Amino acid sequence: MKIYNDYSLLEKNTFGMDVKARCFVEYDSVEELQELIRDGKLQQPLLHIGQGSNLLFTKDFEGMVLHSAIRGVDVVGETAEWTDVKVGAGVVWDDFVAEAVERGWYGAENLSLIPGEVGASAVQNIGAYGVEVKDLIVEVECVDLQSGAVRTFQNADCQYAYRQSVFKHELKGRYAVAYVTYRLLKEAKLHLDYGNIRSVLADKKDYTAKDVRNAIIDIRNQKLPDPKVTGNAGSFFMNPIVSQEKYEALLKEYPTMPHYEAKGGVKIPAGWMIDQCGLKGFQMGRAAVHDKQALVLVNKGGASSEEIVALARKVQEKVKEKFGVDINAEVNFI
Ligand code: EPU
Repeated sequence: MKIYNDYSLLEKNTFGMDVKARCFVEYDSVEELQELIRDGKLQQPLLHIGQGSNLLFTKDFEGMVLHSAIRGVDVVGETAEWTDVKVGAGVVWDDFVAEAVERGWYGAENLSLIPGEVGASAVQNIGAYGVEVKDLIVEVECVDLQSGAVRTFQNADCQYAYRQSVFKHELKGRYAVAYVTYRLLKEAKLHLDYGNIRSVLADKKDYTAKDVRNAIIDIRNQKLPDPKVTGNAGSFFMNPIVSQEKYEALLKEYPTMPHYEAKGGVKIPAGWMIDQCGLKGFQMGRAAVHDKQALVLVNKGGASSEEIVALARKVQEKVKEKFGVDINAEVNFI
């Protein structure tokens, strides 16, 4: 276990905010986390992070930041059709996807190159290119941060929806994810109908998970900024789900508007709306709307959180003015 006081979080958040935590603790096992809880060593406020790829620190964190270094990718069950793989929360998500693809397991390839770690995948219900991680999750093993008890949530207990889970709502801050078990398929069941995946795939008959992974990596690299080069936290906003009536009214005005069927209404891409407002590349201070994908806000170098927040507000205002739709941040403000 590693414990540091007055710890710089600069390398722990992809937006590149230069802030500190009063205390930073990295644990390697469930037992180490249980020991911290039992010995009363957890300090409030407490923030559990993964790779810090979905956060905007707005100031120094006057509490304890916890990080899991629990690793391991273990097969825990299989049939002729599928393999259940139990993965440590601290495994880098894309390392797991790469391993799954190498071992010929299907299901995770569309989620290639998403920043973050396995623990966060289950909290955030990460999704891209027609797949959400909830479609793969069997169960999530957690540690109760109050009692130290281990509790396993079956998929149905996690209340998954678009970018939502019970861990972000009723149980926010209560549990730390220790392991996630994913069910991956031994035979291809590919999802190729989102956006331009098919046109990026090389022209051949049967695609492997690796072909799809490579296509997704190409698409993402064309549109999304590399956080190692330009600070960002991926999509800054969630795509709003509007009522059927609102959708029809908007469609009259914007007949080519992209849209997706969603639970409770129709999902309209916020990136498209921001783009329609003419904001692609728009800069305020050292914060900007990414010039290739308007859903992403970027740190042009040394931006303060105030600059990012001011830009986000401006974007929300403009979208509301033009479309009458509220867009909410996907990124967590800390
Ligand atoms: N669009 C524009 N202009 C833009 C951006 C998008 O016109 O600047 C249009 C696109 O042409 C397309 C539609 O909007 O018709 C959707 O765009 P895209 O496929 O790029 O996806 P998105 O809805 O903007 C979501 C996820 C991404 C994920 C992609 C691909 C959310 C909040 N974001 O973005 O996730 O990679 O779909 O599936 O749901 C992330 O969460 O950090 C993330 C990058």
